[in-house]
Amino acid sequence: MKAIEIKPGIYWVGVIDWAVRDFHGYVTPNGTTYNNYLAIDDQITLFDTVKHDFSEITVDNIKSLVDPSKIKNIVINHIENDHVSSIGDIMHLTPNATIYITNKGKKGLERFFDTSKWDIKVVKTGDTLSIGKKTLLFLETPMLHWPDSMMTYIKEDRLLISQDAFGQHYASAARFDDEFMNCFSVNELDDAIKDYYANILMPFGTLIKNKIAEVQKLGLEIDMIAPDHGIIWRKDPSKIINMYLDMANGKAEPKVVIIYDTMWRSTEQMTVPLMQGIRDEGVEVIVVKLRANPVSFAVKEFWKARGCLIGSPTLNNSIFPTVAEFLVYLKGLKPKNRIAGAFGSYGWGGGAVRDIYEDIKKMGLQTVEPGIQVNYKPSAEDQKLCYEFGRNFANKMKEYHAKFE
Ligand code: FEO
Repeated sequence: MKAIEIKPGIYWVGVIDWAVRDFHGYVTPNGTTYNNYLAIDDQITLFDTVKHDFSEITVDNIKSLVDPSKIKNIVINHIENDHVSSIGDIMHLTPNATIYITNKGKKGLERFFDTSKWDIKVVKTGDTLSIGKKTLLFLETPMLHWPDSMMTYIKEDRLLISQDAFGQHYASAARFDDEFMNCFSVNELDDAIKDYYANILMPFGTLIKNKIAEVQKLGLEIDMIAPDHGIIWRKDPSKIINMYLDMANGKAEPKVVIIYDTMWRSTEQMTVPLMQGIRDEGVEVIVVKLRANPVSFAVKEFWKARGCLIGSPTLNNSIFPTVAEFLVYLKGLKPKNRIAGAFGSYGWGGGAVRDIYEDIKKMGLQTVEPGIQVNYKPSAEDQKLCYEFGRNFANKMKEYHAKFE
């Protein structure tokens, strides 16, 4: 896709990765984009690069606008490889450019590249750079997404170049929110935002709230947000800010997700009366089998729902491996404001349900106990108990959810 002017003199020069399905282990069913931007001013300035596999494409996009050797400044908002790994190719074309980056970014960049001949200037929150008619204001955003991260605000255009924050992994020919909604739907966009937030930014809710408050305190007027992934917010940037504030505050839908795996279908059979019990309490419920879905999908569904039931058969006195993988991944994401319970089948000693509770309690989730276990295969009586457990869990979820309304 060719360069696109997003503001007068500022161009998207990124690439669309239609094919990526594994983003460092996180499944991206809709691909992604690596967005970077070029400002044509007295000092031509590039904001971020792209994943190295695509460096030729971004260079061609730049060449369609200017000779890359004329780039004077390169702002590196984030040093993760999907954004910085083409910097070597870019510096080869414009070796005298000056790089603007945070202190932690500089240290990381030095680990990834031989920077000994590069002119690197460290910037911090509040520093500005005039590039001609436009003025850049740098805002450090540590841990959104890495310690090095920052955003760049262009005052004259009221444009926030936000790197990972406010992005989505979604490859589409639409570059802007309004274009996307004309081609797809708001639900698809919302789902992509929640997927991205759940899998990447869930641990950083407090930081996100503080950073948004800081930006508001600075009185920055924002009429466009241009992230490094997905669509650019030009029609309604307040939508993504409000969604981030909601998610940072732990907003969830009053529904239940049942996430499970199974060996000989006994634990799977338990999901049917559990689901029915939840449903009969008027609560929306969905069921996610881990061996049939990527763990990142399960985490997204976990994040969307206020309540989660986690099911595992006992294997070697503990949790089935796919369920254990889900729990390890979830623990790292530091989930908050969710209620959970556990269920599963066992043959002799049991252990899976016990160990799931141990894990979810360590995460600080609200729990409904005891969980429910069945020996070998759910009998008719077990199925009634599962149904009642589902009803009880749905009611506990409703009570818990009310605290957030
Ligand atoms: Fe899109 Fe943290 O990189």
